[in-house]
Parts: sequence; C-alpha cells; structure tokens
Amino acid sequence: MVATKTKKRKTAAKNGRKTVSTNGRKPAKKKPAAAKRKTKKRSPRKPRYEPVLELPPLSPDECQGLRMSIAVNGVLTPILVDSDGPVRRIIDGNHRKQFADELGYDCPEIVKSDLNEDELRTLARALNIARRHLTRNQKRQLVADQLIETPNFSSRRIGKGLGIPHATVVAVRKELERTGTIPILEKTEGLDGRRRTTRIANTHEFYRTPTHAVEALLDREEFQGVVWEVASGDGSIVKVLKNYSYRVKSTDLTTGTDFLKARASAANIITNPPYSLAEDFLIHAKKLAKHKVAMLLPIYFFRGRNRFDIFKGDGFPLKRIYMFSQRLTFSLKFEGQLVGEAGCHGWFVWERGYRRQATIDWIPNSK
Ligand SMILES: C[S@@+](CC[C@H](N)C(=O)[O-])C[C@H]1O[C@@H](n2cnc3c(N)ncnc32)[C@H](O)[C@@H]1O
Repeated sequence: MVATKTKKRKTAAKNGRKTVSTNGRKPAKKKPAAAKRKTKKRSPRKPRYEPVLELPPLSPDECQGLRMSIAVNGVLTPILVDSDGPVRRIIDGNHRKQFADELGYDCPEIVKSDLNEDELRTLARALNIARRHLTRNQKRQLVADQLIETPNFSSRRIGKGLGIPHATVVAVRKELERTGTIPILEKTEGLDGRRRTTRIANTHEFYRTPTHAVEALLDREEFQGVVWEVASGDGSIVKVLKNYSYRVKSTDLTTGTDFLKARASAANIITNPPYSLAEDFLIHAKKLAKHKVAMLLPIYFFRGRNRFDIFKGDGFPLKRIYMFSQRLTFSLKFEGQLVGEAGCHGWFVWERGYRRQATIDWIPNSK
C-alpha cells in the first residue's frame, strides 16, 4: 500500500503536476476556464458624450488653433457636463473633448447636474456666445433659437441668460413676431418668475413723437389746407398741429381706421408711421394727398427697393429732408415700463408737382 502511494507521487512529479493531499476525499473539481474569467475585474465602461446643443461650427482657423493648443498643452480648461453617468451631455467644450479624444489625451470635466433642460440649453448658448468670436448673424441666430424655445420668457430675462444686450433680444423678437415664427404674447415671465404685461399695446408699433420734433417741422414747412394725421396714436402730433392752428383730421388703426384701406383724400398728410409699413404708407399717402406728405422716418429709409419712384419718379417727388442732428428719443410702453428708444431720424417732405432739386436741411438740437 505505502509502496503504491509513493509510486503514484513519483509519476505525478515526473509529469510536472502538483499533487494535493485530499486526505482520502475526492479531489475538488477544477473550475472551468469561463467561471474563472467571470471573477476577473472588468475595466469600467467609457461614458458616452453628446452635445446639449448643435452650435455654430468653429472656423477652420479656430479649429486649427484649438487643436494645436491641446496637442501642446493638453486640455487646460475642463469641459462642462451635466452628469458623471454613462451618458454625459456636454454643456460647454464639445470641440475640446473631440480634439482630446482624437489625440488620446485626458479631458478634465466639471459636472453641473442641477439644471433643467431649458437652463442647460440657455447656459450652453451663453457660454458659447461669451467664449467665441461669433458673427453678428450667428449671435442673432442663437438669440432666435432661444426665443423660439422660450418665447414666454421676457426679453430682459433672455438677454441676461445669454449675456446679450436686451435691445438685441427685442429686435430679434420683433422680427420673429413679424414673420409669425413666435406668437405675440400678452404676458412674459421675468427673471423673478413673475409674469408681466408685454408691449402687446405696441403690436402696431406705437412710439410717441416728442413735441419738439413736430414743432421743428412746422417752424420750417407750411401746409395749405387740412392736415390728416393718419396714424395718430395718442395724438402727440395732432396736439402740436392744433397749437399751430391747423385744421386737423386724426385717425389710427386702434380707433378703427386702417390707413392702408382708406379712400378719403386730404390736402396734406403728416405722420410718424409704423416703420415696418413705412413704404406702403408713403405710396398710399401720395395717392390720397393733394399737396404735401410729411413723414418722420429713420435715416435707413433711403435704402431699399422702389426708392427711385418714391423719391423722384412719380410727379410727387421728394422736396426736402429735415435731418435731426441729434438722436430723437421716442417714448413707448414696453414690458410694463415706460422706456425711450432713440434713433437717427428726419422729416421727409414730398410735394406734388415739385420741380426743383430735393434738398437737405439740418435741425440743430431742437429740445
Ligand atoms: C410710430 S407710432 C406714431 C404715433 C403717432 N403718430 C405719434 O407720432 O406719436 C405708429 C402708429 O401707427 C398706428 N398704425 C399701425 N398700423 C396702422 C395702420 N395700418 N393704419 C393706421 N394706423 C396704424 C399705430 O397704432 C401707432 O399709433
């Protein structure tokens, strides 16, 4: 018996196997290879990254500059992501992440997980606007995207969120409203979460003309017969005309007369029209006025289509422009507050049958 055990051990040693004493029990079964693999520690899965927003692409120069800087220095500014989970949305740093991955570099991250979807998107836009040299149109496009997503936020709130001047947001909002891309809302929500009345009262572009601007015209230009103020708003031009003893007819869309549909005629028409309709107003006014048309218009009225006919070509030519040498400030109700809006304006006067050259005169500071 002893001799046989020794023989077995010798044979095993010869075959290079290890012998384990089993104390008479059956030897434990060898674990299959697959089971062994199961217990091996797995390396953690790489998270997947996606952008919060598709933002304007980098210019080729910007791309090259950023790539080279990362190649030399690594990613020095951490990217901003919304979580440390398996799917991470990049709020800021899409390009840094892309180049770091391409170069096989680490990309440090800061996690900002306390934002809702709207806030995430706003922050992504704001950081993009702040960091990059975007063109004016690219900036306006980002503002438009934001307005389309959150038209119910006040322009002031959107401006603050994006770090963009309030006036730019207002201008883009007007454009989107005019084209029907976003609704004209009666109330919007401010930064403090309170809902306030908007400039719905200004849907028809109500801006009050300052008295001194009307006086500056009437001191320089005479009108024979009745004067019709065809978009009179709350009557600031009408009041001055009456002070100068003119017989005045006064109408406005808000009191039931759409001038563009009006058929009545008058000796003269004087107004400060809604600028989005200025050209239509002028063409129609020339059909209805017997003598003169005077309109307070922004200087950019010179640009654009059809201007030759408007100024020279139809027997009712431009006679004079009285340019204000100082910017005019109009008061208007906007988002619940009375604010001023300034611009470069002049009185443009047309006279039926006028044959001489049109001239420009300057109105010195008339306040
Ligand atoms: C710039 S504000 C001028 C208001 C007033 N003329 C003044 O100078 O104080 C333009 C005015 O045009 C009016 N309006 C807009 N569309 C009109 C239309 N189709 N027909 C008549 N008035 C209109 C608005 O209601 C608003 O009062």
